[in-house]
Amino acid sequence: MQNALNKQINAELLSAYLYLAMSLDAENKALKGVANWFFIQWLEEQDHSRILQEYMNARGAKVKLSPIEAVPNEWNDVFEMFDDALAHEENVTEMIKNLALLARNEGDFATLSRLQWFIDEQVEEEQSVIDALSTLREMPIYLFDQIMAKRKYSQAPPLKKED
Ligand code: FEO
Repeated sequence: MQNALNKQINAELLSAYLYLAMSLDAENKALKGVANWFFIQWLEEQDHSRILQEYMNARGAKVKLSPIEAVPNEWNDVFEMFDDALAHEENVTEMIKNLALLARNEGDFATLSRLQWFIDEQVEEEQSVIDALSTLREMPIYLFDQIMAKRKYSQAPPLKKED
């Protein structure tokens, strides 16, 4: 389970890296709103990784950081960016499902309980990209960019600490 969680920590950091690349490419294409949307994704993915890091430390497990795969630096257009984001999230959903199956098979119910947050989060992750794609199909890019500019970051609830 420890190895599998370490792989997921890496996968979440890879997601962060991918979305940072998309944010930078959008900024380069003068789409500040889309850049903002993906920049928030980059922050959220770091939160996802941190939740697993904190969980492993709390359980006395050893977090091992490994190299992060290279990601593309350029997309043809915003459609391609969001299509890639959706394919990526579907892949992460599958990884989380496999982690949950492993935790269940090992009788590791504490990990299964922690993973429940990720299972729910993946539903939202996929939905937000699907929503962005349908909005994108309905309007000119400059209006879409204005909508994407409105997104605000808020830290993932499992990381929020009481004072
Ligand atoms: Fe960490 Fe976008 O899933």
